[in-house]
Amino acid sequence: MRRALVAANWKMHGSKALVDELVDRLVAGLGQGLNAVDIAICPPAPYLQQVQELARGSELLLGAQNVHGENSGAFTGEVSAAMLADFDVRFVLVGHSERRNLFAEDDLLVARKFAAVSGQGQIPVLCVGESLQEREAGQAETVVQEQLEAVLAHCGVGAFADAVIAYEPVWAIGTGRTASPEQAQAMHASIRGILAQHDKELAEKTRIVYGGSVKADNAAQLFAQADIDGGLIGGASLDATAFIQICNSVS
Ligand code: PGA
Repeated sequence: MRRALVAANWKMHGSKALVDELVDRLVAGLGQGLNAVDIAICPPAPYLQQVQELARGSELLLGAQNVHGENSGAFTGEVSAAMLADFDVRFVLVGHSERRNLFAEDDLLVARKFAAVSGQGQIPVLCVGESLQEREAGQAETVVQEQLEAVLAHCGVGAFADAVIAYEPVWAIGTGRTASPEQAQAMHASIRGILAQHDKELAEKTRIVYGGSVKADNAAQLFAQADIDGGLIGGASLDATAFIQICNSVS
């Protein structure tokens, strides 16, 4: 039985005041007794310590949105996995489509980041997903397979032992257009199938979460699919009521 994960990706949103209010409400609404689900909050890096302090004593876990592939060095403006470890960061997003598309991150760079995160004993959340053009051209499965195989080739299947994969179709991110439960389930099953070709047992244990316009009113249907083990939530995670409802949609 895979334990579900719901992760909040706040992206570049927030302020000290908003973080105080939002995390207080999340701790009150979700902080204890989470039997079936891990809940992670991925704030912008400057607020990691604030979230860590506000969430202390609760079961909320901390995540980061980005990381550099090296542990230290002359990389102005970057943050390493070792630094994230200082703030009890447990999950780190790698390969989010906004990083791939807006910051030109390619598969090799994503794989290096994945390796750096697992090297620190943290859980990489590898984001994969196709564009609308690729889906309409019938290439969705191939694109996702290539993104996944690039990391498998660089890091080895063993590095996926605790990893999470987030399937996020680019056309569904921030657009209000969600993949249907059937579309998402089909891709999740295909991802699990690719992992199974490398290691059958590991594939059964790997959590594959869905992201892309998950809201309070569509989460339950998505999470009910056999191969969907939770969600990566952008916009709706900035609304405490909506995010709590989404977390409670895990059955
Ligand atoms: P969204 O973002 O929920 O706003 O579509 C998801 C993500 O980018 O992780």
